[in-house]
Amino acid sequence: MKRERLLITGGAGFIGSAFVKEVLKNRFVLPVIVDKLTYAGDLSRLNEARGRYVFYKADIVDKQSLRPIFRKEKPKLIVHFAAESHVDRSIRDSGSFIETNIRGTQVLADLAREYKIKRFVHVSTDEVYGEARQGSFSESHPLRPSSPYSAAKAAADLLVSSYIRTHGFPAIIVRPSNTYGPWQYPEKLIPWAVLCALKNKKIPVYGSGQNVREWLFVGDCVAGILKALMRGRTGEIYNLGSSEERKNIEVAKSILELMHRKKRTGITFVKDRQGHDFRYKMDSCKIRNELNWKPLLSFGKGLRVTIEWYLDNQQWLLRKWRDIASFYHRE
Ligand SMILES: NC(=O)c1ccc[n+]([C@@H]2O[C@H](COP(=O)([O-])OP(=O)(O)OC[C@H]3O[C@@H](n4cnc5c(N)ncnc54)[C@H](O)[C@@H]3O)[C@@H](O)[C@H]2O)c1
Repeated sequence: MKRERLLITGGAGFIGSAFVKEVLKNRFVLPVIVDKLTYAGDLSRLNEARGRYVFYKADIVDKQSLRPIFRKEKPKLIVHFAAESHVDRSIRDSGSFIETNIRGTQVLADLAREYKIKRFVHVSTDEVYGEARQGSFSESHPLRPSSPYSAAKAAADLLVSSYIRTHGFPAIIVRPSNTYGPWQYPEKLIPWAVLCALKNKKIPVYGSGQNVREWLFVGDCVAGILKALMRGRTGEIYNLGSSEERKNIEVAKSILELMHRKKRTGITFVKDRQGHDFRYKMDSCKIRNELNWKPLLSFGKGLRVTIEWYLDNQQWLLRKWRDIASFYHRE
């Protein structure tokens, strides 16, 4: 029996690679990965899945490179993760964010229409709503992105929504909250903090560390995206949040505690991020009620599992140190 081709963009990234491994639990599906392998892409994330997926190194902005892949593989389903994903980089230079996150989504959606894709899951983010000083945002809340990253993601959401309405494009938009877990590139808070602690450096925390995020374990994130792909209603948007709110300072302190480092001396407060959103919080009742999704791991358990993984895989983490230290000019 021919296995169903599922095209996954950004499948060498943090969440995309976890999604590929989740999909491989179903032997009737063959993941076809398209990834440019930017600084954030890394095929070693897929070592345990070697030989069980098809890989194309390609840029989603480049239609000429993508067309032969569509022609050969004839995918019927697409899950679109590929993006420039780091807010600080978007503040420094938004060019690649506009290209990949907006133009890349357009190119992909146009090819998906041309090749009559049955289902297209667009992976968005909670950051498109902007900051939630109070309460939580449902799927119908207006988009008020603050950073060039979230503005580019919001633009892509609006484009996909316009294709749904104008062309009857069979897309679903999923908006996960702050995702963490094994294999995350250590420019993001949790692996960055673990890396700093391993190097006996203080963990830099923005402002006074009061900013709040809704933390979602990567396994729960990919389970939600898979539910949306299998059973979500086309044309719909699904928030995917854990309700596990934590201040950045609490996260940094928990990491120091779990790594047996001193909490009082292991943190340094640095100049706040420009335009820093104070808090994100979504109402995720829709995916819980309609698709019967719920997070399986509490933040406490997820953080322990994550730190254990980084400690067991220190070489991978330490190899990224120079890259990141030079980005932040902190060596
Ligand atoms: N990490 C989070 O906390 C989080 C939360 C909500 C939503 N998201 C969204 O989930 C998706 C995946 O996030 P992630 O954390 O895994 O990101 P990531 O940065 O770890 O991975 C992105 C992947 O996309 C690839 N890529 C980048 N530009 C490309 C291009 N032009 N063509 C082809 N491939 C390209 C990279 O090589 C990399 O493998 C993104 O769309 C992101 O906006 C992430």
